[in-house]
Amino acid sequence: MPPSPLPLPCLRLVEAPMVNQSDLAFRLLAVENGATSTWTQMYHTDAILNDRDALETLLKSLEVGRTASENLCKLSPAPLLIPRKVGGEESEEGNGPMRSSAASFCPQIVQLAGNDPESLVKAARKVEHLADGIDLNLGCPQNHAKMGHYGAYLLPKPDWPLVETLVSSLSRSVQLPISTKIRLTPTHADQTSILAKRLSLAGSDCVILHARFASTSRRRNGPADLGQVKRVVQTLRDEGLLRTEENDGDGVRRTAVITNGNVRGWSDVVKNLEYTGANGVMVGEPLLEDPSLFHPSLGKLSSPPSKAELSRRYLELCERYPGTGSDLFVARQHVRNMLCPRSFSFVQESEGKAAEARSRADLYQRRSVVEARVKSAQSVEDLREAIRLFEGQEEKVVM
Ligand SMILES: Cc1cc2nc3c(=O)[nH]c(=O)nc-3n(C[C@H](O)[C@H](O)[C@H](O)COP(=O)(O)O)c2cc1C
Repeated sequence: MPPSPLPLPCLRLVEAPMVNQSDLAFRLLAVENGATSTWTQMYHTDAILNDRDALETLLKSLEVGRTASENLCKLSPAPLLIPRKVGGEESEEGNGPMRSSAASFCPQIVQLAGNDPESLVKAARKVEHLADGIDLNLGCPQNHAKMGHYGAYLLPKPDWPLVETLVSSLSRSVQLPISTKIRLTPTHADQTSILAKRLSLAGSDCVILHARFASTSRRRNGPADLGQVKRVVQTLRDEGLLRTEENDGDGVRRTAVITNGNVRGWSDVVKNLEYTGANGVMVGEPLLEDPSLFHPSLGKLSSPPSKAELSRRYLELCERYPGTGSDLFVARQHVRNMLCPRSFSFVQESEGKAAEARSRADLYQRRSVVEARVKSAQSVEDLREAIRLFEGQEEKVVM
């Protein structure tokens, strides 16, 4: 019997795997603010099999996350966790209690990378008892992936049989749902849907498409091509392979699709899901800058926390769960992303007359002072000091 797939509502609003940024504290912060499942960062099979410290930290983070009260997610039995309009008005049902009172823990999925079926299965077995799913990285564009021939460098067609073997080996040998995170197939983006079909048939319970070509030189190679996500959804639907609310639970193994790319805020989440027809959306970098990005899914009952509150909460979670991967380097990155985002979204946060009155140069100046303080922080207390500095500047803006 194949293992039960992850519940579809859990695949709705997903925190992306991010090296050095998908630590437990950040994952819990995302869940507290509406994420319905979280991915760990990518671990190469060598790290799992040969680096005891890395494995122990990962296992501890999974074990703690399994039962942490912050990892509780109130799942709605309804198919949609996004606000729905009834007669042109946002309904109470759609906007408030979208999540039922039946609480469950948000699944934690471990992402692995490699190109050897045996090592992959061995690595998956090391985490199987604590993970809720195994994801195979088929999208890493970096040089080390190129040199080691894994990640996105398994996407060219001649490697598809190997990829199928990797997926089917995991699927046969591990008692967990298996997913695959892919990018557009090189040169011919329209072959992506054919690859997705083959992954589905090989045993991938979920395909996540980051709809860009991989590039070693640029992380973002233009906008994501969401049309290809739509095509993957349509192809799987046509083949009877798409998992939907209607066919869910009928005992037939099918594949869910998660769309990834082009989300900057909540309205993009809604538009993206509507356009692609995917079962869920995965968000990475924008969630680093605003971990409350999914907050509107929780309804209007509470307003989203401010950036200072989110940063402080993140540090609280780091201290509550030591030894789970949130060292000072990681924490600095998170606080910096939240307080000094590259997209400069805090300009919007302080919308209004005061912010309008300030020139952009002033805002850059303000950001750089906070940023310098964050970068030089030598302790969690220093980071708290940087948050206070940020707040002080916010107050000056409001006055
Ligand atoms: C700091 C950082 C680290 C990342 N690490 C991983 C990783 O370990 N595995 C992976 O599959 N993707 C990784 N990604 C890619 C993201 O998961 C995601 O696919 C990509 O950022 C596009 O989504 P976004 O536009 O929502 O950020 C990383 C992205 C960032 C920004």
